[in-house]
Amino acid sequence: MSNTAEIKFNGNTYELPVTTGSENEQAIDISKLRAESGLITLDPGFKNTGSTKSAITFLDGEQGILRYRGYSIEDLADKSSFLEVAYLLIYGELPDTETFTNFKNRISKHTFVHEDIKKILDGFPSKAHPMGVLSSLVCSLTAFYPGSLAPNRSEDDIDLSIIRLLAKLPTFTAWAYKNKIGHPVIYPDNKLDYCSNFMKMMYGLPGNEYEVDPVVASALDKLLILHADHEQNCSTSTVRIVGSSQASLYSSISAGINALWGPLHGGANQAVIEMLEAIKEDGGDTTKFLNKAKDKNDPFRLMGFGHRVYKNFDPRAKIIKKAADDVLAKLGVNDPVLDIAKGLEEAALKDDYFVERKLYPNVDFYSGIIYRAMGIPTEMFTVMFALGRLPGWIAQWKEMRDNNEPIGRPRQVYVGAEQRDYTDISKR
Ligand code: CMC
Repeated sequence: MSNTAEIKFNGNTYELPVTTGSENEQAIDISKLRAESGLITLDPGFKNTGSTKSAITFLDGEQGILRYRGYSIEDLADKSSFLEVAYLLIYGELPDTETFTNFKNRISKHTFVHEDIKKILDGFPSKAHPMGVLSSLVCSLTAFYPGSLAPNRSEDDIDLSIIRLLAKLPTFTAWAYKNKIGHPVIYPDNKLDYCSNFMKMMYGLPGNEYEVDPVVASALDKLLILHADHEQNCSTSTVRIVGSSQASLYSSISAGINALWGPLHGGANQAVIEMLEAIKEDGGDTTKFLNKAKDKNDPFRLMGFGHRVYKNFDPRAKIIKKAADDVLAKLGVNDPVLDIAKGLEEAALKDDYFVERKLYPNVDFYSGIIYRAMGIPTEMFTVMFALGRLPGWIAQWKEMRDNNEPIGRPRQVYVGAEQRDYTDISKR
């Protein structure tokens, strides 16, 4: 197989190296193309541009494969725990018992946050979307740990920031929820595991015993695993590009949270439930909404359908669909919105428009239904996604740093006005 590609332009031939990945993905390395030919490449939305070589997540969208550090998502969701997956993503290998115990103990030690953070939280109106609250609280860590801003920190210092962030995000997430409903915050309980502690902070009330439902805690753990990384998506690319300017871990992750918020990315889980509820309110006619989604003059899209890289079933959606059935059965929840979701999925999978464009349900289609069954309000769904994605963002930020990657700075093709003379305001 050739390891070079050629570009012919204006009578000249430029030879470009071809890089091959460990799963035989091939890429033309165009990094020297401009210097040699004056040409840049144009690829809005980076639909066909590799921004890095990464050893964290492998994804084959045509075959519906997703692996973290070589381990299949199916195996990890079935056999592992979220914190074990977090360790795997961040440090590259599955931990042995001693290493894992040490990792969990370190996280437990850092779950509390500075009391002044409550003042920042109090400053937000209860109408504030919890994603905005979360990204602000994460960024506020730069003020409480100013040492984290220095670009040339030791590896131990960086690791401490990583542990702090993993430990504090459940606290921030639960507190963003408490702010939303106007309840007092609940402090972490370090005797509990990661998900149980989070649930107690979400649902507990001061002075009241809160019993964690193990079915719900285990479903939550699985959901977090499924969201833990997804290679160079919008929020992860944001984390890497912000980090490439040597901005701190906390500010880079805060930026990632904001990128995740949009309805075309993580915000889709909230948008799916809003869409299903709107269909229910409208009388439950799924065909009407399918037709709206296909109508090019109608901006409506079927939320939770389609994916930039999956042109086959999203493997995470398959696992979540089963988990949603289990949780609903175990909790005895009968949700009419789930019936609408099933009807919509069935109709879309048979519809030529969706079949031709390879639009399948994605991870967000079913995750919202589980969150709903757990009693998590709709505006919190994307915050739950952020909690799951954190280890992936951290791993990608760390890899970008360890690889000494250059500052991210795309080029453009300028299409604006040519040079013109300035005219005084009185003469315009
Ligand atoms: N409903 C109706 N038509 C769609 C949809 C949809 N959900 N998604 C894509 N299409 C059509 C689109 O109109 C286009 O048609 P045509 O070729 O006739 O112009 C074609 O399918 C290709 O779509 P695209 O917008 O060019 O594809 P993209 O890779 O730029 O966008 C996407 C991917 C996920 C943004 C898009 O599929 C979408 O908007 N889906 C709904 C939002 C959603 O569920 N987002 C969550 C993504 S998964 C979790 C995550 O990564 O955050």
